[in-house]
Amino acid sequence: MDMINTDDPPNDLRVLAMRPLIAGNWKMNTLRADASALAAGLVEQRAAIDPGCDILICPPFVSIRSVGEIVLGSPIKLGAQDCHVEVSGAHTGDVSAEMLVDAGCNFVIVGHSERRTNHGEGDKLVGEKAKAAFIQSLSAIICVGESLDERNEGKTLAVVEEQVSKSVPAEATAENTIVAYEPVWAIGTGLTPTIEQISEVHDNIRSLLNSRFKDGEEFRLLYGGSMNPGNAGEILAIKNVNGGLVGGASLKVEDFWSICTSV
Ligand code: 13P
Repeated sequence: MDMINTDDPPNDLRVLAMRPLIAGNWKMNTLRADASALAAGLVEQRAAIDPGCDILICPPFVSIRSVGEIVLGSPIKLGAQDCHVEVSGAHTGDVSAEMLVDAGCNFVIVGHSERRTNHGEGDKLVGEKAKAAFIQSLSAIICVGESLDERNEGKTLAVVEEQVSKSVPAEATAENTIVAYEPVWAIGTGLTPTIEQISEVHDNIRSLLNSRFKDGEEFRLLYGGSMNPGNAGEILAIKNVNGGLVGGASLKVEDFWSICTSV
């Protein structure tokens, strides 16, 4: 029988070994006590069962330290919701990637549509934020997704292609980068694309990554937008969906845990 060299497994085996990621983006929710209770509830669930996926929570900046103390020593990973491109300096209200590492984070979300819309962040800046994250050995979750008008005008694939091309830097690898497809119109609305629509976009993102990166097949691609315990199983079963980026349903232990166990 042929021996498998575990240092350098063939591509298909590495893909099979890809562990899905379920990430909770708490957005601007939870006071410190709620954040601690939520984190403690998840740590307790995870101590009892391994649902077969990696679990990440991204609290508001001010709760990162306290949540970090609760998840310390558990397999639950800690991330932030944004970072600045610079390491330090006169940037009132901003937080650098280095500060996030110092606070205990391993991940950072960049280019979320709420940052793109509310703070005018474009693809170039998002790519620079991802690079700032890589320099600090943080993994970047780079978000892309079309608006409802863009979908109705048949521009979804073109929009997502442009965002991926410009927001995912040349330095990206499957280790340091996760791409999240979040259709803007599905975020917080209770609307979700059909399985075919999600599949089409994820297949497209995979092809784009394959054309640019030799490990393109191994990047984790997350779906986000009104994911909940009722639809998670079906969405997470789609080829090229390697996890979820969950907003509202990540704020309740039972709902988020139920999504984790649907993997
Ligand atoms: P909802 O799950 O609340 O739709 O939010 C999705 C999202 O924006 C995660 O980043």
